[in-house]
Amino acid sequence: MERPSVARMYDYYLGGSHNFAADREAARAVLAAVPDAPLMAQANRAFLRRAVQFLIDAGVRQFLDIGSGIPTVGNVHEIAQGAAPDSRVVYVDVDPIAVAHSREILADNDRATVIREDLRRPERILTHPQVTELIDFSRPVAVLIVAVLHFVPDSDRPAEILRTLRTALAPGSHLVLSQVSDDADDESPQQHEAERVYQLTDNPLVVRTRAELAALFDGFDLVEPGVVWVPQWHPECTEGADDAERAAFRGGVGRLGD
Ligand SMILES: C[S@@+](CC[C@H](N)C(=O)[O-])C[C@H]1O[C@@H](n2cnc3c(N)ncnc32)[C@H](O)[C@@H]1O
Repeated sequence: MERPSVARMYDYYLGGSHNFAADREAARAVLAAVPDAPLMAQANRAFLRRAVQFLIDAGVRQFLDIGSGIPTVGNVHEIAQGAAPDSRVVYVDVDPIAVAHSREILADNDRATVIREDLRRPERILTHPQVTELIDFSRPVAVLIVAVLHFVPDSDRPAEILRTLRTALAPGSHLVLSQVSDDADDESPQQHEAERVYQLTDNPLVVRTRAELAALFDGFDLVEPGVVWVPQWHPECTEGADDAERAAFRGGVGRLGD
């Protein structure tokens, strides 16, 4: 609790109360350099909500949300089960506080659960008894890795992790990714400061270009409009479309063909 956690810093940006002094201090240091951080977090959550609704409309009823975070407004099970009550949701996070709060809100939900596991060990997620109890991998599954990959450096082989997950999925499954993105060659002072603060956590920040993020959809067919600034992905209205780049997150959805 004396070391800032990325899950709890994100909770702070979203106005949540599941954070400690060290998290708030680190989050405030990021906010001093990047005052838009709450706007970015909200834009990312809105993308997540629209992506889940899109998946429900596409007939998907199973969701594996890896790096799901501390529960907040519009959690995946609320959107999915609100629209299709038979939906099944498994949350996965490494952060013990995120897992504890998720477990609490899911206590009475027999179609949703949470496990503590690391995205970097995908085999353990895929074979976890609580996962295999709820998720039938012979049917389409949506794997959500939203606002998480910027915590997975290339040295942890994100492409290999995603390949392992993809290999377990049936045709018609989907992959949803979003992460902090920038195409500039030079790091801005704001980015440098945010990276410095995230070095204090267990999860240093890795910014990726649009092309690098698009490459992580290898094996999936990108759903239109591809990898874009998150406010531009299936927007509900055109408001904010002009300065979508301010959201600093890019995202997309891929579909596994037959
Ligand atoms: C910025 S939050 C995103 C939460 C949610 N997915 C969203 O988009 O609103 C990132 C979450 O990823 C989790 N995380 C970071 N690295 C992870 C890893 N290797 N395996 C599982 N979870 C991880 C953190 O604990 C945190 O809860």
